[in-house]
Amino acid sequence: MEWSGTRQGHGEAAGSPQTPGTPRAPRQDRTRGRTSGRAPDTLALLKAEFDGTHDVWRSDMGTVCVAGPESARAVLGNRDAVVDEASDFYRTRHGDFGPRDAQIRIGRAARVLIRRHLDARRGELPGLVAGHLSPSASWPDAGNLLVLRHLRDVLLHRDAPPQLHATVGQIVHRAVLAGARHRHSPPSRLLFRRRAQNVLHTEIRARQRRSDPARDARDLLDVVVDESDPGSDPKDLAEVYLSFLFATVGSVGFALGWSVYLLGTHPDSQAAEPSWTVREALRLWPVAWLFARTPRHAQTLGGAEVTPSDLLAVCTYLVHRHPTHWERPDEFVPERWAGSVPDGAYLPFGHGPHTCAGATVTMRLLEDLVELITRDWRLSVTHDGAGPQVGPALAPPRFTAVLSARSDCPGRR
Ligand code: HEM
Repeated sequence: MEWSGTRQGHGEAAGSPQTPGTPRAPRQDRTRGRTSGRAPDTLALLKAEFDGTHDVWRSDMGTVCVAGPESARAVLGNRDAVVDEASDFYRTRHGDFGPRDAQIRIGRAARVLIRRHLDARRGELPGLVAGHLSPSASWPDAGNLLVLRHLRDVLLHRDAPPQLHATVGQIVHRAVLAGARHRHSPPSRLLFRRRAQNVLHTEIRARQRRSDPARDARDLLDVVVDESDPGSDPKDLAEVYLSFLFATVGSVGFALGWSVYLLGTHPDSQAAEPSWTVREALRLWPVAWLFARTPRHAQTLGGAEVTPSDLLAVCTYLVHRHPTHWERPDEFVPERWAGSVPDGAYLPFGHGPHTCAGATVTMRLLEDLVELITRDWRLSVTHDGAGPQVGPALAPPRFTAVLSARSDCPGRR
């Protein structure tokens, strides 16, 4: 994950690190100024260009856009080696972090660690919701900070150096929260980035010296250090660690924000199954909404001719609203998940070999939180009608959510 550049991901807009999903690292020389990273107009442009019929087309932005489910799956799944193999999550400024075996080990170990943590700490969620979200809170930051609080010990164990704890907290405020980069001047961002990198690199070197693959990882930084190959560059490991920070605090927080926003603006849906709400929120507003890949050879993709000099931009936002595959594609209809849905046109966690390693733990946490919020609280939302905050990740607009306790709920008796 990079601290700057044109890359897309789950993080804050250009200038911040990237997390899984969405245009990966278009090569800088080929993409500067013409990639999907140029938020906030990118989403509007893509929507305007998509005619509902041509699933793959050459965009005015210079990319080849992919909006059809079959083509999107062909590219992301890459079974026929149509694109260069790549994972946005493991992309660093030096290229792809690897080898693939290490990527897989890291993804698995991270999932195990987070799952254990969720099991052990589930009982804390009602108190966190009451303490962080009621009586009212400003979103989407509230969602990110709640997730940070809940996963704090997984991100960094309690005994990690205080300076590192402070740095990770600052990274969240300066780079992960939606619009964070606009809150600080460019020189201040540059200075902070250097300081933060130093702190991270120092800690990673220290942990590499003590690394023991046989020990249980205490936090995600241990996972990255212990499961990577010996001799891995601390700078690359820092970027992979930041991918986890963005995936957890950023993406999960934004996804929670979308669920709360949609429930608040559709009060009649507050009784819907939490799992339907979360799925539908991720359909309408896939946090990881745009993925970049490079064709491996000249070929026809969805009726369009593409070559290795093209940049493919797979847009799951458009896949998820494809009029041929979804009924009432632009409407929030959680109930659709009670029946059969076009699975092949639903890719919130990607598709194929690089499918999100954290998908199951993410869904579980989101469903638990949405269940708590709708079961124990009455939710109302005020907002100024602004659209999504479009960046590497698709974040909800700013809104205020008021939670008032239900006298009739089981948790409050
Ligand atoms: C709402 C939350 C999340 C969303 C929407 C999301 C989405 C994605 C997507 C779309 C990809 C595929 C990227 C690609 O094909 O280039 C991905 C990859 C990945 N995600 Fe997530 N993610 C989320 C949360 C998490 C969490 C909590 C973790 C922590 C374990 C995680 C770990 C990973 C890893 C390790 C990969 C790389 C998989 C590989 O290449 O083998 N993600 N994620």
